[in-house]
Amino acid sequence: MAISKNDFEYISRLARSESALVLDPGKEYLVETRLGPLAQREGFDSLADFVQSLRADGKINGLHHKAIDALTTNETLFFRDFHPFEALRRSILPEVLEQRASAQRLTIWSAACSTGQEPYSLAMLLLEHFPQLADWTVSIIATDLSPTVLKLAQAGIYSQFEVNRGLPASYLVKYFTKQGEKWCLNEAVKRMVEFRPMNLIQPWPIMPPLDLVFIRNVMIYFDVDTKKTILGKIRNCLLPHGYLFLGTAETTTNLDPAYQPVTFGKAVVYRSMAEAATKCLASSSIS
Ligand SMILES: C[S@@+](CC[C@H](N)C(=O)[O-])C[C@H]1O[C@@H](n2cnc3c(N)ncnc32)[C@H](O)[C@@H]1O
Repeated sequence: MAISKNDFEYISRLARSESALVLDPGKEYLVETRLGPLAQREGFDSLADFVQSLRADGKINGLHHKAIDALTTNETLFFRDFHPFEALRRSILPEVLEQRASAQRLTIWSAACSTGQEPYSLAMLLLEHFPQLADWTVSIIATDLSPTVLKLAQAGIYSQFEVNRGLPASYLVKYFTKQGEKWCLNEAVKRMVEFRPMNLIQPWPIMPPLDLVFIRNVMIYFDVDTKKTILGKIRNCLLPHGYLFLGTAETTTNLDPAYQPVTFGKAVVYRSMAEAATKCLASSSIS
């Protein structure tokens, strides 16, 4: 189903305004391969008819949301990039836990968590290496814009292919149970993660003060102003000793000078050098 120039421009504007996804000319194939099957499932004869139906309603409705959901890139894997998790285990968590020893509270946000491999990697790492946290209040909040991936994440059921990507064999044996062709994550790990829908470019709910923020491989799809706004809002929620984790192709450089990169082995993470804020109040929408 080839897309016309006009329809592509309409979908680009929709994606930009509703999810911040930048779809420049040249990405027509991406729209065709992601929206074509959705158009068929929704009973339209062509992608053009589907886009026509989206255009016909001046307001954003359920079909628009399905289109946005289908346009998202959900690639993820357990312990993605390995080094940030090593840095966490060896250096960052011991330091953060010392800071939080009197409160006995640890709060982690996995923003844009896709199908859950990132927050579940964090949960398994805590269970495996920090047994002292059994007496703490540990909260792993995992959010994503896409209801489709959140449902899969909540189920915690993965294919052989998915568990072969990044997950140490010892973790598979210890934290998963095989059911038929699938691997089901044990309840003890699932219980540690709270999944919530959240669009990063809409007003944020009140966030708790955060020790660690993982927002990886999502801002790469956004324009500069959106990245700046999101980085600023994260600073307002990050505790003074907190750390920000980005994807390997992402950085705060030239976006937010209040963050300072810190290197741990082969991992680069970020600290906020701004006046400690933790003003995690509902803030206005990114325009
Ligand atoms: C490539 S995945 C990254 C998953 C994980 N963080 C990782 O690094 O492996 C990007 C995720 O960002 C989500 N996403 C895209 N735009 C978003 C937005 N505006 N608000 C929240 N999540 C968004 C997508 O649904 C997708 O699941």
